[in-house]
This record gives sequence, C-alpha cells and structure tokens, in this order.
Amino acid sequence: MIKIAPSILAADFADLGSEIQSISNADYVHFDVMDGVFVSNISFGLPVLSAVRKVTDMVLDVHLMIDSPSKYATRFAEAGGDIITFHVEAEEPDKTHQTIQKIQKLGKKAGLSIKPDTPAKVLLPYIDILDLVLVMTVEPGYGGQEFITAMLPKISEVRSVIDSRKLDCELEVDGGINHETAKLCVEAGANVLVVGSDVFAATDRATHINELRNP
Ligand code: DX5
Ligand code: ZN
Repeated sequence: MIKIAPSILAADFADLGSEIQSISNADYVHFDVMDGVFVSNISFGLPVLSAVRKVTDMVLDVHLMIDSPSKYATRFAEAGGDIITFHVEAEEPDKTHQTIQKIQKLGKKAGLSIKPDTPAKVLLPYIDILDLVLVMTVEPGYGGQEFITAMLPKISEVRSVIDSRKLDCELEVDGGINHETAKLCVEAGANVLVVGSDVFAATDRATHINELRNP
C-alpha cells in the first residue's frame, strides 16, 4: 500500500495543531528540519517537534537536513520522532553506521536520504540495516520546487536492491510530488510519498490524500 506523508513545511505554522488535524487520514506527518548549513534555509527543530508530539498520535517522520546529524539524531528520537532520517552527505561513514544503530536502540526507525546528485550506490554499505531510504526528487531546502524527472531511474535502482535483498525497508520520495509525479514514483517503486504544497493547497485535504494513494 502507498503511504502519504504530508510535509508540514507547507502548513500554517501559526495554526499547526489544526493543520495537522486536517491531514489526519494520512500515514505519516513529515517534519523537515533545516539548519541553514547543510541547506540554505532554516525551518524548525526540537521544541516544535515536542509540541507537535503532544497534539497527535500520528507517525512523525523526521527529515533532518542538518550538518553533523550524529550529534542530534537521538535527541529528535527522544523528542517524539518515530522515523529519523538523515543525509548520507552530512556525516562521516563510521558515524553513519553508529547513528543508525543509536536511533534503532531507542526503538525508533532509521532512514538515510540522498540528494539528487548523490548516486544510489552510496547507500549500499547501510541499506541492509535501514528502515527507510529517502530519495530526494528536488534539491533539499525549499518546498514548492519542480520534480526532477531524472531521479526516476534512481528510485528504480533502490527498489531493485530492496527487493533482491528482500529487505524490510521503505522507499520514500520527497519534492515536487503531485498526482502526476506520484504516479511516476509509484511505478518506479516508491511506497511512501512526501507531499507538501500540493496537499496543503487543496481545499479538501482528506480527499486529496486519498487520491494521492491511488495515483
Ligand atoms: C524539501 C523538503 C520537502 C518539501 C516538499 O527540502 O524536504 O519535504 O517540504 O515540498 P513540496 O511537496 O512542496 O515539494
Ligand atoms: Zn522532507
């Protein structure tokens, strides 16, 4: 089944509680953390995650777009994140392994993300222990960008590795997802779709989420 993860980066931050309520038929709440160093934008962090945790039982899918994620990943897990995904480009290889294991020891799921210019093969040393792979379909940092079609073969490549190794690993895509690009990503093998502007711009968000599940 296809899962939908609305990104609250596109929500009204002054009314976050009811914005999350409006997407409660989705599968995950996608929580984009940006530090102004790994990406050239700053969003929100730990105190906002703790506040969101108090108002919803939904799965909180944390996407860390931060430098040195090994320093902070467990704090996001302790603040209520259920899935903690960080970028392979942002950390040293030995710390990457340790960080995945630390997240999982806290009973949480660990994900690794790759930017558009990063090849799928960099995931190979880690993929056997990952709960999720996040393939970015735009340059991380901003919502509302156009989907990069050239990412489709990379999604298929990751899907082949997951299936051939029979891994229990989700394959998530993020950036520029709408009804049309959702269909392309699902055909390429994605099973979790992060959707920001397209969901929050919809007048009937619940119906829109259901439609995205069957692109
Ligand atoms: C981009 C973020 C995305 C973003 C997606 O760096 O990781 O999650 O919010 O937004 P849309 O769906 O508008 O491209
Ligand atoms: Zn994201």
